[in-house]
Amino acid sequence: MIDVHCHILPGVDDGPSNFEESIEMCRIAASDGIKKIIATPHGNPCVYDSGTARIIELTERLNVLLSGSGIPLSIQAGCEVFAAPDLVARLKNSEVLTLDAKGRYVLVEFPVETMPPNWDLFLMSLKGAGYCPVMAHPERNVWFLNRPEALYDAVEKGIMLVQITGVSITGELGPMIKAFSSYLLERNLAHVVASDGHSVTFRPPVLSAARRAAAEIIGDERAEPLFTGNAEAIAQGLPLTPPHPVELKPAAKKRWLQRILPQR
Ligand SMILES: [Fe+2]
Repeated sequence: MIDVHCHILPGVDDGPSNFEESIEMCRIAASDGIKKIIATPHGNPCVYDSGTARIIELTERLNVLLSGSGIPLSIQAGCEVFAAPDLVARLKNSEVLTLDAKGRYVLVEFPVETMPPNWDLFLMSLKGAGYCPVMAHPERNVWFLNRPEALYDAVEKGIMLVQITGVSITGELGPMIKAFSSYLLERNLAHVVASDGHSVTFRPPVLSAARRAAAEIIGDERAEPLFTGNAEAIAQGLPLTPPHPVELKPAAKKRWLQRILPQR
């Protein structure tokens, strides 16, 4: 498996604070069957100053330490960029990193509670500039919980791919997010699953439990690419042709919510 979203580098954001903690996270990931992690520190200059050069340097140092420790895992430099009007310029200037060395996939983070106006036009502008936006964990965003049709529309138009979080599928973030994750998986509205790991205790970098849970929801054949093939294509900057999303019937738009509400 490949984890395309993990805060594994030390001292750059709210992930591990030193290399010892990073190595412990890597040990956990490797024992879980993860072969590669894309390091995605927050790229939000207002909060964290990760910086491209520092991310690349820390990634190289961590890879050297992993080789020396015999942990079968490699780290690739990336970034989780916060959606901001100057994002295209920052990408072009290499102030923030894409997920892959070819410069195709951009992991975009939005606020958790809401979505800014014209977020879809913003993603279209990224697409128009030659990037493929990967939206980070919309299943945890309250705005989308109430408007699944907006997520459908954006995926159906091809303006973004969707990354959901492993612990959302397994239910560790609560029944509502679990139900919404199932809803997205069933409708081909999720394209890759990642840990969004931050430490050995706060969302550790594990994916095998989510892989089993996803397989129970949509079957092995559909679940597998979300942890392997699609993640590999993103890591290598190769094109992805995801299955067409399953259309939402108006009456079924909030059916996921009805699953967890008390029946009368
Ligand atoms: Fe993250």
